[in-house]
Amino acid sequence: MQNDIITPIPVNVMGKTYEVPQGLTIMKALEYSGYRLTRGCGCRGGVCGACATIYRKKGDYRLQVGLACQTVVEPDIYVLQLPFFPANKALYDIGRAVPDAQNIRKLYPELLRCMGCNTCTKSCPMDLEVMNFVSAAIAGDYHRVVERSIECVACGLCAARCPAELAPFNIALLIRRMVGRHLVQPSAQLAERLEEIKSGKYEKELQELKNTEKSEIEKRYQELQATKGASV
Ligand code: FES
Repeated sequence: MQNDIITPIPVNVMGKTYEVPQGLTIMKALEYSGYRLTRGCGCRGGVCGACATIYRKKGDYRLQVGLACQTVVEPDIYVLQLPFFPANKALYDIGRAVPDAQNIRKLYPELLRCMGCNTCTKSCPMDLEVMNFVSAAIAGDYHRVVERSIECVACGLCAARCPAELAPFNIALLIRRMVGRHLVQPSAQLAERLEEIKSGKYEKELQELKNTEKSEIEKRYQELQATKGASV
């Protein structure tokens, strides 16, 4: 019987066709095809948002978006990588940027151009309700922005597709920072832990770790992962 994992399938990368084993993610398919990823690749685990990708499946007119490290290739898929999207990113002094409508609109006046078309939500590979947090930003409900955008990986795909040219991921980042800096009560546990670090409490352990062989660190890491897997 044929093994599906190694069955080669054709994929089209930026106009060129390659044969890659079935079951690979777009990122692995790119590397299998000989691409060396110096951009558009970070954590490889769906967290950093560096690997925004646009693709179209054969026979489907729609362009779809995703994270290259999480999206599995299909036969005759067309793939384009977005190593970087030059979205507007405001500069500000977070110490002075208190969360209010005036400050937010001064930094991102385009926020008010949102037409409510929901394209941003449809573009999000993390399945976040992007238009919902954009609406919350317009309405001044900043805690809702934080709550709804906290899992944003800042891949930029919402900005790439927004017809009103907003960068929802950067607007949400600003508001999360504003809320964290000006509205959230300081954490007593964090202050305590910082004091412990400053006082050198973990110095000995850190030194031991630095002097440990790489193979031993890898072994401990594997054991830790196994423990986590067992407890899920
Ligand atoms: S490489 Fe980090 S999200 Fe894909």
